[in-house]
Amino acid sequence: MQRRNIDPQILAGIKEKMAQGLLPQWILTDPAIYELEQEKIFARTWQFLAHESELTEPGSYVTRWLVDDPILIVRTNQGEIKAYLNSCPHRGTQLCTADFGKKKTFICPYHGWSFNLNGELIGVVAGDKVYGEEMNKEEWGLRQVPRLDSYQGMIFANLDPNAPPLAEYLGDMKWYMDILLGRSDGGMEVRGIPQRWVVNTNWKLVLENFSGDPYHVQTTHRSTVELGISPKDPLYAGYGHQVVLQNGHGINVITASAPGKNDRPPYQGLPEAMWPMFERNLIREQAQVFSKTTVFVGSIYPTLSFNSPVHGSEGHLHNYLNFRLWRPLGPERVEIWSWFMIDKAAPESYKEDAYRGYISSFGPSGTLEQDDTEIWTRVAQASKGFMSRDKMLSYNNLLNYLMGFDRVQPDPSFPGPGLAYPTCYLDAIHRATHENWLKLICED
Ligand code: FES
Ligand SMILES: [Fe+2]
Repeated sequence: MQRRNIDPQILAGIKEKMAQGLLPQWILTDPAIYELEQEKIFARTWQFLAHESELTEPGSYVTRWLVDDPILIVRTNQGEIKAYLNSCPHRGTQLCTADFGKKKTFICPYHGWSFNLNGELIGVVAGDKVYGEEMNKEEWGLRQVPRLDSYQGMIFANLDPNAPPLAEYLGDMKWYMDILLGRSDGGMEVRGIPQRWVVNTNWKLVLENFSGDPYHVQTTHRSTVELGISPKDPLYAGYGHQVVLQNGHGINVITASAPGKNDRPPYQGLPEAMWPMFERNLIREQAQVFSKTTVFVGSIYPTLSFNSPVHGSEGHLHNYLNFRLWRPLGPERVEIWSWFMIDKAAPESYKEDAYRGYISSFGPSGTLEQDDTEIWTRVAQASKGFMSRDKMLSYNNLLNYLMGFDRVQPDPSFPGPGLAYPTCYLDAIHRATHENWLKLICED
């Protein structure tokens, strides 16, 4: 059901430029490209829906979106997690209008049909009188999302019944997700509800920023350096490894201390009492990487990113895990969903401090968030004029993804999987992500 075609010659031209480390600017906000992305990327890849800690009891539910499809996710009485199109099969209105809650049945606000947690139609107002006793209710249950699976408590869905399994799609990203989500007894928990806000930009730009752009930190977030929140060394966000993974995924494992210096707190400043637990739950190489890392930042392609930083001052440091869903609303609009997660096993006072740190940094009004939002908006604004949208590239509208191009080789001594380059000031993830993007939009 392809909706709009891009001239194959133009696609071949994009490929040629990408092989040179260049990206045509017109693809960023082009409406025809966006239509292709909806069909070829969002409807075929695994998309994040919720974390299992948001659905603790039978009847717990949350409502989410798979781009434009409203989704209702519930925990059944049997403890299973199910996801349905949040649209009544009678006349299509949104069935559940709340963001989250707990229910035994969902009653449609239009004509009152009711559904149980397994999605079965169990009640029809005046049913026998208006549809007759022979109405087969089994035919009118809620429509299930074709594929649903989870890894380390992260629930994903896929609209393509023939998509590869989630575990295969995540590939080596699982190794890093184990560190971020599986290091503590009981795993991680979501605190509060996901905050959300809309930014006038394109989903590829925000994804790119979290996937592989530690290079922007010293300039965009200059005020944090001036306030002493971030180190003064202009190279600090580049120390560590940028790891290119399969399927467009990537992670930056930032040590934030110059090679051989090791002056940052181990295990992201998490309480020392938790360290033996990390070493018990992780394999040796994972614990080794975790102990030396200050910030993990990266993305699970296409619309989920994460950031696990360290905030606070000496003696009062805290770490948290922030997951970001970039829900595309159009070629120039993204709804950001932001979850705060923390180790279930962490002391309560630590969790509170970390939550405050998150709100003031990467929450919707956080200092770092505001810096980024303005930049992302301005990229979109500056990418839709006659010059930047010209598909023939007559105005040299090619963007630079040349950092480390052909100059930096992977470091075989890095203990984790993937192509690990010995710096995070590098466009390796960006180049791989854009190549993956092109491959997907060119597929039949
Ligand atoms: S639309 Fe739901 S009962 Fe009619
Ligand atoms: Fe930023």
